[in-house]
Amino acid sequence: MADFQHIVVLTGAGLSAESGLSTFRDKDGIWAKHDYREVATPQGFERNPLLVHEFYNQRRRALAGVGPNAAHVALAKLEREYEGEVTIVTQNIDPLHEAAGSENLIHMHGELLKALCARCGTRHAWEQDLGLETPCPACGKTGGMRPDVVWFGEMPYHMEEIAEELIAADLFLSIGTSGNVYPAAGFVAEARAHGAHTVELNLEPSEGVSFFAETIHGPATQIVPAYVERLLNR
Ligand code: APR
Repeated sequence: MADFQHIVVLTGAGLSAESGLSTFRDKDGIWAKHDYREVATPQGFERNPLLVHEFYNQRRRALAGVGPNAAHVALAKLEREYEGEVTIVTQNIDPLHEAAGSENLIHMHGELLKALCARCGTRHAWEQDLGLETPCPACGKTGGMRPDVVWFGEMPYHMEEIAEELIAADLFLSIGTSGNVYPAAGFVAEARAHGAHTVELNLEPSEGVSFFAETIHGPATQIVPAYVERLLNR
């Protein structure tokens, strides 16, 4: 295994599946039970904010008692022990990377445990239910609080920082993501175009499998710790 200096890890819902959190597109996934146009678009929020609040309130409540798994823990170990730079870019809105100890972490789709006031633009750590009557802790106004989550049709967060990471990366790992949603699904091509070695670690081949130089398929809690040990003991 080569001597990589700058590792960028893209993670998706499959990383948190073995912690008990549903993925989106597997057969019993979230989008099999909910219409994303109703619960994960600004238009859906405009039409029926109560439905959207209830959807995210349920997901926030479902975090109770859920912890990081061996794959999250292995990635935190990699960041701690690897000589080179390790950056995680996650599509996940759950707090499991942080719970495992990861620090160099970019939440490109936002965070379930944060709320955003659409009236004054402030963000707030948030563990309780949100609703139309919830006043913003900063401006005090109601009716503008929403989950600090990026909805379909909205621009993901930290895209400039992510672009710099993809240019600097010499190893790009993609873990637990189906490769259906852009811009994340395009990161492998970006990283490869700048010379990175690219590896897919996923339960099954993703939509973007052909972009990867190397693929390892299996459950994240098995394949990720094994791959991290190879990096740390090369
Ligand atoms: N270990 C490894 N991979 C797994 C596991 C597991 N235990 N379980 C499922 N997977 C894989 C699936 O094979 C699938 O390829 O994880 C992937 C999950 O894909 P999606 O459900 O499409 O989730 P993700 O790619 O993260 O979705 C991207 O879409 O819905 C939006 O904003 C949402 O961030 C999300 C984005």
